[in-house]
Parts: sequence; structure tokens; C-alpha cells
Amino acid sequence: MHITVVPASPKTGQATIRALLADPSGPAVRGYYRNLSKVPADFQSNPRFEAVRGDVEDAATLDFSGSDAVLNITPPLFDERDIVEHARLVSENVKAAVKKAASVKRLVYLSSAGAQYDHGTGEILTNHTAEVVLKDAAPEVVFVRCSYFMENWAMSLETLPQGFFFTTLTPLDRVLPMVAIQDIASALTSELLATGSALPSHPYIYELYGPRDYTSNDVHKAFEEAMCKSIEMKPIPKEGLYDFYAAVFPPKVAQLYAEMNASYLEGGILEENPRPTGEVRRGRTELVEVFRGLVQG
Ligand SMILES: NC(=O)c1ccc[n+]([C@@H]2O[C@H](COP(=O)([O-])OP(=O)(O)OC[C@H]3O[C@@H](n4cnc5c(N)ncnc54)[C@H](OP(=O)(O)O)[C@@H]3O)[C@@H](O)[C@H]2O)c1
Repeated sequence: MHITVVPASPKTGQATIRALLADPSGPAVRGYYRNLSKVPADFQSNPRFEAVRGDVEDAATLDFSGSDAVLNITPPLFDERDIVEHARLVSENVKAAVKKAASVKRLVYLSSAGAQYDHGTGEILTNHTAEVVLKDAAPEVVFVRCSYFMENWAMSLETLPQGFFFTTLTPLDRVLPMVAIQDIASALTSELLATGSALPSHPYIYELYGPRDYTSNDVHKAFEEAMCKSIEMKPIPKEGLYDFYAAVFPPKVAQLYAEMNASYLEGGILEENPRPTGEVRRGRTELVEVFRGLVQG
């Protein structure tokens, strides 16, 4: 089996490549990097791994010939460009390269919970746009709609040494599905290695959550357990989301992150969820396991 990961440098791409290279079936993996200096040393030394210079923004740099399956991830944008137009462009480029490579039977796309909606979800609109473009890119198409990454809480590492962290998940007992990157990598690896086997639908779509859903109070407990000390939790109310994100992002990005965050709070489209995906799968990794890894660096 030959698998292409494009782009290869996102956290999820990297974790999936690591899981593929560790799989006993021994697939060969090609990873696309904008910057080849980003290739991890353990990949460079693996004879089943090939790093290729390429950018999803430039169709001419993508050649998937010889691959049986392609994993695509939409890279996040943190500048003032139109993120939806950018998602459309990079997805069209990937789709064209998949169509050109006769060998590619399956396209797996790392998507997001809420990608079925074309409004009200902020940054998740990039995943919606990509799904619309990619839905018929290959004979077999799989969308893995991931919930909130547990690793997003790594942003708290900046304030934890001062004894506190911020949470934008309010009220503090509001539940939200969260999933570890390790579980995302396992799910994507299984889908890629199953290339050629029948899928229940076209495209085949499911949501991926962790072993249980968590509240801010659970996050607080998990940080205290991982750090073996008391930590203060500082909630950001819904009305303060834009200012919170605007402190670190340009205004347009802050607006989209605030809208995404509000979408899963009370009254948001993901709370109502009028068109649920249907199938939900659960990973095994608990929040506290991820936090132990984060605080140990
Ligand atoms: N965070 C969540 O809770 C969540 C939940 C569900 C779905 N998602 C989706 O997951 C995806 C992000 O995954 P992630 O967190 O693994 O990403 P990430 O680690 O934040 O990705 C950043 C990487 O993207 C690469 N990149 C940026 N522009 C590129 C380009 N034009 N060509 C090639 N590589 C490029 C960068 O590579 P360089 O090393 O070259 O800079 C950088 O390493 C997004 O589509 C997001 O919507 C996220």
C-alpha cells in the first residue's frame, strides 16, 4: 500500500504518518512539505518514507501518481486572507491531483464536527468548503469529522506557570466532545489502510470523539492532576470571546474563532445540531493522559 499525506507537517498529519510507519502491514508513505527542513528525523531515516517539496496552494507541485490513498488536511490560516476562498483553492488543487493520479482509489479528509453547515460555525467553514469540493474526488471518499482537539488546551501552557488557565467553554459544566490527536491518527490510519474495501456510503462520514465528553470543570481537574498542584480557572464569558481572540489574532481571524467558539455554546448551531452526522466513533485517550504529555513537554 502506498499512501500520500498532504500536507504532512500539521500535528495530525505528523501523528498519522508515525502511526502508518509503525503499522505491521508496512505501507510506504509520501509526505508533502512546504519546507523540507520540517521533516522529523525519525521519518527521514525510515526507508518507507519519502519527503517531497510541495505546497497545496500550488497545484503544479502536487503529483500523487503511484499512491493508493491520499490523506488531506486543510492547513489553518492566521492572516487576513479569506479562509473560505483559501480552503476552496487548496481543496481544488488536491482534488485535481487526485483525479490526475489513476492509482488513487481513496481520499481520506480530516474534517470537523459541524462541517455539514454552511453558516454559523466560523473557522469550521473551511472544512465545510473542503468537503463540498472533495466529496467526489476519488472512487472512495471518507470524511472523519473530528471533535475539539484535546491538544488545543496546549495554549494554556503559557499561563499555567503563573498558576492559572483561561477557558472559553462556558458555563463551566457545559459538555463538549474532545478527542486526542493520537486517536485521530489511529482512525485516519485505519481508513487509509482499508483502501479498496467497500464503504457504507459515498462519501462515508462519521464523527470522532474521545472516550467521553468533558466540561471546563473536567479540564480544570485534569490540569491539576497532571501538574499535581492547584490551578485557578479563569472563564471567558460568551460576550468576551472576540476580545479574547483579538488579543492574539488579526481581527478577521478573531471574529471567525469567536463565531466557531460560540457555535458550540448555548444557542449555537452545534448545540441545536439540526442535521447531525449520524455515526459517532469514540477514541480511547483520556484528557488527563494528553495533559500529562503536554506539561512534561
Ligand atoms: N483544532 C481543532 O480542535 C480541530 C477540530 C476539528 C478539525 N480541525 C481541523 O484540523 C485541521 C488542522 O489540523 P492541525 O491542528 O493538525 O493543523 P496544524 O498543526 O495547526 O497545522 C499547521 C501546519 O500546516 C502547515 N501548512 C500551512 N499552510 C500550508 C500550505 N499552504 N501547504 C502545506 N502546508 C501548510 C504548516 O506547515 P509549515 O511547517 O510549513 O509551516 C503547519 O505545520 C484544520 O483543517 C482544522 O479545521 C481542527
